[in-house]
Amino acid sequence: MDYEKRKTKLLYAFLVLVSICTLKGGIAEVIRCKETERQALLKFKKGLVDEYDVLSSWGRSECCKWRGVGCSNKTGHVISLHLNEETLDQWHALRGNLSKNLVDLRHLISLDLSSSDFSGNKIPEFVGFLDKLRYLNLSSCSLAGKVPNQLGNLTSLRTLDLGRNNGLEFPDLDWLSNLSSLSLVDFSSSSFAASLKTILFQKILIITSLKNLYLGGCEFSNDKSLEDAYVNSTFASLSVLDLSSSSLASSNFHWLFNVTTSDLVSMDLSLNALDGPIPDEFGQKLVSLEDLDLSNNRFEGPIPKSLWNLKGLKRLDLAWNNLTGSLPDFEGTMVSLEVLDLSYNRITGSVPESFWGASRLEILMASFNSLQGVISESHLSKVLNLKRLELDYNSLAFNLSPDWVPSFELEFLKLSNCMIGPHFPAWVRTQSEISQLDLSSTNISDELPEWFWDSLPKLEFLNLSHNHISGRLPDLSSKLYGHPYIDLSFNEFSGFLPSFHPNTTALYLSNNRFFGTISFMCESNFGDLSLLDLSNNQLSGNLHGCWENNLLDVLDLSNNKFSGEIPNFSGNVFGILHLGNNNLSGILPYSLSTCQSLSVLDVGGNRLTGTIPPWIGTNLASLVILSIRGNKFFGNIPTEICYLTQIQIIDLSRNNLSGKIPLHCFKNFTNFVKKDSTIPYPLAGTSYSYPLVYITVDKIVVQWKGQEFEYSRTLYLLTLIDLSGNRIDGNIPAEIFEMEGLVSLNLSENHLRGNIDQAVRRMASLECLDVSKNQLSGEIPAGLGTLPRLAFLDLSNNNFSGKIPSGTQLQSFNESRYDGNIGLCGPPLPRCNVPDMSSSGDHGKHSKDVENDYSPSMNLKEFYITIVFGFIVGFWVIIGTLILKKSWRYAYFNFFDRNIESLCLKAAVYMTKLRQTKFE
Ligand SMILES: *[C@@H]1O[C@H](CO)[C@@H](O)[C@H](O)[C@H]1NC(C)=O
Ligand SMILES: *[C@@H]1O[C@H](CO)[C@@H](O)[C@H](O)[C@H]1NC(C)=O
Ligand SMILES: *[C@@H]1O[C@H](CO)[C@@H](O)[C@H](O)[C@H]1NC(C)=O
Ligand SMILES: *[C@@H]1O[C@H](CO)[C@@H](O)[C@H](O)[C@H]1NC(C)=O
Ligand SMILES: *[C@@H]1O[C@H](CO)[C@@H](O)[C@H](O)[C@H]1NC(C)=O
Ligand SMILES: *[C@@H]1O[C@H](CO)[C@@H](O)[C@H](O)[C@H]1NC(C)=O
Ligand SMILES: *[C@@H]1O[C@H](CO)[C@@H](O)[C@H](O)[C@H]1NC(C)=O
Repeated sequence: MDYEKRKTKLLYAFLVLVSICTLKGGIAEVIRCKETERQALLKFKKGLVDEYDVLSSWGRSECCKWRGVGCSNKTGHVISLHLNEETLDQWHALRGNLSKNLVDLRHLISLDLSSSDFSGNKIPEFVGFLDKLRYLNLSSCSLAGKVPNQLGNLTSLRTLDLGRNNGLEFPDLDWLSNLSSLSLVDFSSSSFAASLKTILFQKILIITSLKNLYLGGCEFSNDKSLEDAYVNSTFASLSVLDLSSSSLASSNFHWLFNVTTSDLVSMDLSLNALDGPIPDEFGQKLVSLEDLDLSNNRFEGPIPKSLWNLKGLKRLDLAWNNLTGSLPDFEGTMVSLEVLDLSYNRITGSVPESFWGASRLEILMASFNSLQGVISESHLSKVLNLKRLELDYNSLAFNLSPDWVPSFELEFLKLSNCMIGPHFPAWVRTQSEISQLDLSSTNISDELPEWFWDSLPKLEFLNLSHNHISGRLPDLSSKLYGHPYIDLSFNEFSGFLPSFHPNTTALYLSNNRFFGTISFMCESNFGDLSLLDLSNNQLSGNLHGCWENNLLDVLDLSNNKFSGEIPNFSGNVFGILHLGNNNLSGILPYSLSTCQSLSVLDVGGNRLTGTIPPWIGTNLASLVILSIRGNKFFGNIPTEICYLTQIQIIDLSRNNLSGKIPLHCFKNFTNFVKKDSTIPYPLAGTSYSYPLVYITVDKIVVQWKGQEFEYSRTLYLLTLIDLSGNRIDGNIPAEIFEMEGLVSLNLSENHLRGNIDQAVRRMASLECLDVSKNQLSGEIPAGLGTLPRLAFLDLSNNNFSGKIPSGTQLQSFNESRYDGNIGLCGPPLPRCNVPDMSSSGDHGKHSKDVENDYSPSMNLKEFYITIVFGFIVGFWVIIGTLILKKSWRYAYFNFFDRNIESLCLKAAVYMTKLRQTKFE
């Protein structure tokens, strides 16, 4: 009975439910989007350029179902419009203008147009009519100009994100006081009127509900007198404060401790100019901190022990400072710590035993320090949750038994330059989650274990370079994961090249013992491959057929045994092409002229022939390095060569070229004309390694001080003209001797006549001058003796005459450098018949022959700059790739700290500028 009753009741309830549901469904179907709003959306779309066709659904009848549009189920009004990177699955998917028709969407509660490209637009005043908005996100939209006061109408706003635009300006902030419900404000990368600077925080913090405040990249003034202005504010209820990248200096940042309260949970001061010791106040006052980012400052001294008081701290980032001293004893306090980044400091000593008590650690990064000592199983077994371990570039040794099974599952392992060998670490086999593995330069002398390629199914980045790892590579076409990036260079791998994963993005296999052909290139599209370095192996066969599908930034096939003709690169090599020192024959094919952005073309040391094609000058205008040395080219040097305004190294030596050196030509080579025209770059050499930056230190073999020399590290500073070993005749154009930026000039072994122009005294950068074995005549100009950097000189076997200018460095060169000039006399050669008053009479034998002084006279600055060269190409390559490949950006940028990301983006911007000025 009771049971029956309940059953009926249940049935009844069920029926009610069903009818409610159908009714509801019915209503939902009846509600259609309002025609006015539909029209407004369509007009809004009209103002946009939809390159990727992300709004293809817009236009069908039911606008509530359009991509990015959300309607109220009750009223049918459009209440949300989210056209951001996540919903559209594309960065900068939409370009164009913000149409005024947006105001017809009066019921909008949430508007998110972030990461669209509205460059040239201001934030429109009409936004003020959308007064129901609670969420407004116009970040990363390339908006510029003044922020309108009309935003003050949006009194319901909870979130106002205008960050990371194109330098929005705030003339005024009074309107903010109307927005009394705001909880998040992001004005990062904006600028504020001077009148606001001193009262900025008062104006913002008038909103007592504010919890999250992002003002990164806002460039606060460094004026110390502003200090008490800040003091008048208190960040009473703030829990998140971002003042990164704001030019804060230690002299004006101490006020922070007087205004922040112990409620602060997250504080980002990265990318400022804070120096001195890290203040104890962080540990003493901001006791609730869970996330503290002090990276990319100039903090010095040891890590203060007071930081260890922050018991709730989960993330501590101290990377890229000048911290020294050893790690303080943890004493079991950092129990909550999950992320610790100490990379790029100068921390010394061994890792204290207590350190491993931070048992919740998931990310431990201490790369590029001077840590010492041995890390053993007993240490690593304590950090059970470790996912990322980066201790590369320290002096650490690992003592782990071959059968050790760690309790963690790493995703990132970077131990480059740690002491791990001689055996390949067997425990790596257990780390099946690993996606990035760097064991380069770790003294491993072992065969790569057979399990390797099968045990790490998620491996995407692999660097095993600079070891003595041997073995053959199995078929890798279905091994590795995602977009594999592989560096096995400088090892002892041998055998044929296998098949590789079709999505491979970079393959560094240089300096091994691979042989056979490169047929693997034909087996797959390799549409993502941007770098292929197979140099210094024993590969052979011809190069035909398989390059059509890839767009390579760097292709290095030099120092192998490839033969046949240069294949058809139809516009698909962008940056660097090395084919040097092979056995290639035929001519330079016209198809090369389509690789218009090439900066390096190196075909030296082959058996190529024909004339130098004019299109090298007309089509390859970005060339920085051109080497065709050691081939069989003949004919004149085409005047089109003179169009190569970016050129820095032009090496046409050891061919059969004839005719004259083109006139009025070298003036066009701006790098030769200006002294020290090279660009110093602050980030040089500071690679954060894959995936953000990789360094391709480019290289080229040139004749340097009379010998062949592979230039790489100091490449960027080198400016060189080498026309030696040809049959060039005529005079040396005087303008060559006016090139203040030229470092090496080699015209030897030709049929040149005439004399060395007096202008030679202007060659302030000249280090090497070789004009030997010509028919040059006349006296040696005195100016040659005054060149400040000249370290190698060869004038032998010409017809020079007269007295060698005395009392100059010319006396310091070995007399053989003047041999074979019948009319030449004076020190270091025997005396002239005419008495020489200034000569002291000590002759050549005592003189120092500078030419053997190989330790390059290039100085530290030059070292810097060379890395830069690699940097420019390499950096651009990877940043370029990341900009293009969104999946990459997601996958990797996520792992990187905000600050590194912005650092790199800054750098990317810088590089883009650099390229514009330098390479375009
Ligand atoms: C509107 O519908 C969606 C799903 O259709 C639901 O998640 C949401 O709660 C509904 N909102 C209201 C106010 O009914
Ligand atoms: C702002 O709000 C006021 C009053 O609600 C209204 O009169 C005015 O038109 C609005 N202005 C803008 C630009 O939204
Ligand atoms: C700070 O407050 C003090 C007293 O409240 C006042 O005298 C001073 O002018 C204020 N300074 C600024 C810059 O607002
Ligand atoms: C911060 O407060 C301390 C006292 O708590 C005071 O000595 C110091 O001068 C204040 N600093 C600033 C910059 O106001
Ligand atoms: C691999 O490691 C070596 C040595 O540590 C380094 O020089 C090289 O740049 C790394 N390769 C890549 C692709 O990052
Ligand atoms: C170079 O290639 C030619 C054929 O084109 C061949 O006869 C010769 O043996 C090769 N030389 C070397 C050193 O491999
Ligand atoms: C120098 O370069 C310009 C183009 O940049 C070209 O028009 C001119 O002809 C070049 N000079 C010579 C001598 O080729």
